[in-house]
Amino acid sequence: MAAVLGRAVWARARVLPMSGSVSPGLASVSILIQKRKIHHPPIPRGKGGRSSFSGIVATVFGATGFLGRYVVNRLGRIGSQVVIPHRCDPYDVNHLRVMGDLGQMTFLDWNPRDIDSTRRAVEHSNVVVNLVGREWETWNFKYEDVNVKIAQDIARACSESGVEKLIHVSHLNAHMKSVSKLLRTKAVGEKVVREEFPGSIIIKPSEIFGREDKFLNYFANMRWFGRATPLISMGMKTVKQPVYVVDVAKAIVSAIKDPDSSGKSYIIVGPHRYLLHDLVKYIYAVMHRPFVSYPMPRPIYHLLARFFELSPFDQWTSRDKVDRLHITDFKYPDLPGLEDLGITPTPIELKAIEVVRRHRKYRWLDTDLDDAKPATPVNY
Ligand SMILES: NC(=O)c1ccc[n+]([C@@H]2O[C@H](COP(=O)([O-])OP(=O)(O)OC[C@H]3O[C@@H](n4cnc5c(N)ncnc54)[C@H](OP(=O)(O)O)[C@@H]3O)[C@@H](O)[C@H]2O)c1
Repeated sequence: MAAVLGRAVWARARVLPMSGSVSPGLASVSILIQKRKIHHPPIPRGKGGRSSFSGIVATVFGATGFLGRYVVNRLGRIGSQVVIPHRCDPYDVNHLRVMGDLGQMTFLDWNPRDIDSTRRAVEHSNVVVNLVGREWETWNFKYEDVNVKIAQDIARACSESGVEKLIHVSHLNAHMKSVSKLLRTKAVGEKVVREEFPGSIIIKPSEIFGREDKFLNYFANMRWFGRATPLISMGMKTVKQPVYVVDVAKAIVSAIKDPDSSGKSYIIVGPHRYLLHDLVKYIYAVMHRPFVSYPMPRPIYHLLARFFELSPFDQWTSRDKVDRLHITDFKYPDLPGLEDLGITPTPIELKAIEVVRRHRKYRWLDTDLDDAKPATPVNY
């Protein structure tokens, strides 16, 4: 019965016109039709909102993280069916349940060490997004496991299952010779993903800022440690080009819709580059708190970071994070970026308040941004 139904829907999918029953918004979306286990959601219909069908059935690995919630929401609001493999308590995915129409969010228990569990998670999807990553190593999962092994297993499962599009999120500064182990393993991850799934789309974001980030909030929280911010070389030798989390989520969804995106790497960065020192100074200006910074030699910073690495819970910082934050963001003039995906990057001056308002003192809570002097961008 299921096979007969499957064949009937497949036949319907092949004759489905791109105009007429499909809204103009959805007509521009390439129809990603699965070759196996076809079911209704891959056939776009409706007006393009949360209650329509976008034609996308996406498995999002790492949906419980910072970027994950924005990606799932973006997919949900255009009427996609989203499969969310997770390893956490069901209570921790409740915020994702409401991001799609009734029944459009499917939750699965996932064991990243079991390839069959990964296969089960991707077998009904035409799109897979891999957002799995961790800023620190744990007893159970080293950077190689998270950034290489899991990424490779996901790419292999996608390749075997005939998934149409695999979006792999890496890092702008991923490099085989990086001082940061996380960035070295991210570079290896990109390589193995391309080997397993040559058409994979690699998204390379710079440091991402947004309400739940570990970038602006990290510097803002430094005020708890002696009211002064340690920066290697006072942050005068590091240039950063942070990107807004919503722009990254939009880029992922645009790459899914773009029929020419397969096999490309996208550089996802903000509109301006700033010296790290100027950026942190600006964050403190928005917070209405005094900014005092002092130069911290790398070995001493590492020694302090080592202390935080002993934490059995989330590590606030680590030696790897210290190194990562003080690496100047790479430039890739030849690779496509946000503009090529039809997205205008959001300046940090517009959204920093959203992130750091909660770090303000009560009397400054509602103050406007006008009196915070923006950081001066640099062009190197
Ligand atoms: N945030 C940034 O500034 C930034 C910048 C550039 C690139 N990226 C990359 O973008 C991706 C998403 O970043 P994010 O900030 O959203 O990360 P995040 O908040 O740390 O979330 C990471 C996700 O990966 C999952 N995960 C981590 N280790 C896992 C493991 N061993 N097994 C299964 N699942 C695991 C987590 O699941 P649990 O909830 O179960 O732990 C979570 O859903 C990552 O690949 C990251 O490297 C992030």
